[in-house]
Amino acid sequence: MIKNKYIDLVEQTFYFPRHGYDVRNGNLFFHDLNLMEIVKEYGTPLKLTYLPKIGSQIQVAKDLFAKAIEKHKYKGKYHYCYCTKSSHFKFIIEECLKSDVDLETSSAFDLDIIKSLHKDGRFPIHKKIICNGYKTDSYIKGMVELVQMGFENLVCVLDNTDEIDLLDSMCPVPIKIGIRVATEEEPNFSVYTSRLGMSSKKILRLYNQKIKDNPKFTLKMMHFFVNSGIKDTTFYWSELTRLVNVYCDLRQECNTLDWFDIGGGMPIYNSLGVEHNYEYMIEQIVMIIQYICDEKDVPEPDIFTEFGSFTVGESGATLYKIVGQKQQNDKELWYMIDSSFITTLPDTWGIGQKFILLALNHWQREFQRINLGGLTCDGQDFYNSDSHTNQVFMPKLHHDEELYMGFFHTGAYQESLGGYGGIQHCLIPAPKHIIIDKNEKGEHTFKLFNKEQTPESMLKILGY
Ligand SMILES: Cc1ncc(COP(=O)(O)O)c(C=O)c1O
Repeated sequence: MIKNKYIDLVEQTFYFPRHGYDVRNGNLFFHDLNLMEIVKEYGTPLKLTYLPKIGSQIQVAKDLFAKAIEKHKYKGKYHYCYCTKSSHFKFIIEECLKSDVDLETSSAFDLDIIKSLHKDGRFPIHKKIICNGYKTDSYIKGMVELVQMGFENLVCVLDNTDEIDLLDSMCPVPIKIGIRVATEEEPNFSVYTSRLGMSSKKILRLYNQKIKDNPKFTLKMMHFFVNSGIKDTTFYWSELTRLVNVYCDLRQECNTLDWFDIGGGMPIYNSLGVEHNYEYMIEQIVMIIQYICDEKDVPEPDIFTEFGSFTVGESGATLYKIVGQKQQNDKELWYMIDSSFITTLPDTWGIGQKFILLALNHWQREFQRINLGGLTCDGQDFYNSDSHTNQVFMPKLHHDEELYMGFFHTGAYQESLGGYGGIQHCLIPAPKHIIIDKNEKGEHTFKLFNKEQTPESMLKILGY
């Protein structure tokens, strides 16, 4: 029998069903949710957030670090920080906090979020706040206010040598300090050294000249973030090894230093065709830090991570309907979605990001290669290449039939980069957004977070 149906293609290309996806009667289910029922009820385009995934992701990392720490009798602790910039929504951060995480911030307004969470009783005073990013006056002012409120575990992570003088002039109270070390970029990147952080040569001098003898400052943390993420490559392991050595050199000068922050970058599933061995990666990280610290006779530090995509990426999905077809030449058939990639999934356009893409219905139909086009008049508003095949396939459609499709694991960064609720390219409105959770009985609950953006809201921003 010829295997030419969409379901055959998916089953032959990937291990399927997996990761909460399966197909029943030709329709896609996501964590037991019938997505066709959802689009029929709420319409498209639709953003959805599946909250239970957030807690389960945090637990995966916490459990694997705990396992590695116990196995290797590692003497430091592990702290999971959520990187707020990956999704600032209240319902997201509150969900993270249910799993007892600390927070990493990147700008002044982030600290207003923290004050608001604290006021609501959701972020207690003992929590850690890791302040990364460029330090403006208003950002430092916010940090000082929080320390004065009693947040003693706030760490101001210095990105450059000038920030210490600004901090000294603006902060009248004792404060914990971190130093961000600049990582090397992968050889194919456009610069050698990350523009963020300081070179390892500068940090010892900075500590000795400006931190050591200032009674207000306690150097507590060394921080870095390998831009290309945590990967099982020689590049990542050698960079980690170099940075643990930098930590040990600094620790030999400064005995208050005992927090080692490896940043974010834990990979997520952007394709059903890859495999991430989280257990192996986390065990290696713990082992490398332990091995070098023991060799250099330095106490093993507490390990911090700031996972953003890993925490929220897999909780998000963006669903569209195909509203038209267009044959441009013999080979290029376009399916038009009822929204825009540029505004709803800006990473697909800005950095060529790939997401899991699956049809929601018609899985028993034959498949065909297509290109997906967005509604804006922008020639770049398209998606036609998945990470595993460099092509996109969808079920063939008979005339006047409705096809729905979804991009999955879209929960990180897309809303803030797309300017959620703001002005949109070609004024294509921001989609409706629903939040799905589970109640005590394990039943799914649905909440409309935002309706589709109205013309009035956009015109108001535009000054009409
Ligand atoms: C300092 C810092 N920490 C953490 C993160 C989160 O990275 P990811 O979403 O890859 O986990 C970022 C992302 O840009 C970052 O700049």
